[in-house]
Amino acid sequence: MENFVFHNPTKLVFGKGTVEKIGEYLKKDGIRKVLMLYGGGSIKKNGVYEKVVRSLHDNGIEKVEVSGVRPNPVLSKVHEAIEVARENNVEAILAVGGGSVVDSAKAIAAGFYYDGDIWDAFIGKYNVKKALPLYVILTMSATGTEMNGNAVVTNEKTQEKFYFSSKHVYPVLSIVDPTTQYSLPANQVVYGAIDAISHVMEYYFDVAGSDLIDRIDEGIIKTLMETTEVILKEPENYEARANFCLATTLALNGLTGLGTTGGDWSSHELEHAISAFNPDIAHGAGLAIVFPAWMSYVKEQISEKLIKFGKNVFGMSGEFSPDDVINQLKSWYRKVGAPVTLKEVGISKEDIEKLTEIANKHAPFGTVKELKAEDIRKIYEIAY
Ligand code: NZQ
Ligand code: ZN
Repeated sequence: MENFVFHNPTKLVFGKGTVEKIGEYLKKDGIRKVLMLYGGGSIKKNGVYEKVVRSLHDNGIEKVEVSGVRPNPVLSKVHEAIEVARENNVEAILAVGGGSVVDSAKAIAAGFYYDGDIWDAFIGKYNVKKALPLYVILTMSATGTEMNGNAVVTNEKTQEKFYFSSKHVYPVLSIVDPTTQYSLPANQVVYGAIDAISHVMEYYFDVAGSDLIDRIDEGIIKTLMETTEVILKEPENYEARANFCLATTLALNGLTGLGTTGGDWSSHELEHAISAFNPDIAHGAGLAIVFPAWMSYVKEQISEKLIKFGKNVFGMSGEFSPDDVINQLKSWYRKVGAPVTLKEVGISKEDIEKLTEIANKHAPFGTVKELKAEDIRKIYEIAY
């Protein structure tokens, strides 16, 4: 187990009927005016918008709105919202939505105080020093962004999907009411599960770790697999939703990384190139395709861990190989309706060159095996 320091400042407010409390929390914190950020309108269909607006109104909190944040969010929307936030002198950002909205809100919160282009934070030219306080109402559990300091945004001009991390953009408070997620389409539930499973696996297959965290990891992954299957059949099963939501938060709020060297994260790099290349491909879908391919490529380095994973996550016994475990994972992805090859999402063999070029902008990456352009190309070829 490696040494570590663990500090997570986000207050997590979890459960039924918590969305309505947002106004009270803001008021208690002395916030009088917020920029309310949301996506393409799902919150207007499922009643969340109305609850938030009423709660703000009842507590005397003013709001200005920016909507239209798209999945795989883009930099131009971040720029637009920074302008609105400045013109209106808001005191905080209130993000209402999934990971795309929350990540955009983090960039807006940091960009508010920065004179240059906030893209500088994503390319390592600016180390965020200050940000507006961020409040979150999460309507889709997947990324863990509600309780971490990461923001992922695409610069649509350069086709770069990059991230920054900063202690200044951890949400002050995040509300997770599982009932708001009853309206999620089935494919989003599946992609959310695969994203969170992948976060845990990025740490599980790290070169360092501990038995305790491995057991927590295995428990989170098993919970995500079991609850996903229940939710697909019974979208309004509260216990399944609540377990699913909590599992996704714990997957990437620092807990699963304790005692590791920080995780491998190659599969995430490889995926970000896919969704930068084609923003219509969901992050979770891209991960279902590249993670098993990465496992195959490095299976010699992670063979023992794959066997442990097979036993403890899938209950495999007797003689079985690392390949059997990778196939089992792919079968589960297929079972819940996720794609497992690049072909299935419309990426051609010729596109692999372009994907390699995009991913290579961040290379070398990975701790299990340091990946360079040639390795990256080979993994995409396995994933084809
Ligand atoms: O835009 P609206 O209308 O709200 O619709 C959204 C969107 O179309 C819809 N949705 C959300 N909540 C809903 C709902 N539909 C019905 N009912 C609800 N309750 O779901 C669609 C997808 O939303 P999005 O926010 O894009 O999904 P997700 O939460 O998976 O976020 C994905 C983004 O997060 C990044 C990904 O790369 C991707 O850009 N990530 C962020 C991370 C982080 N900050 O730590 C880590 C991850 O690895 C990931 O990279
Ligand atoms: Zn992810």
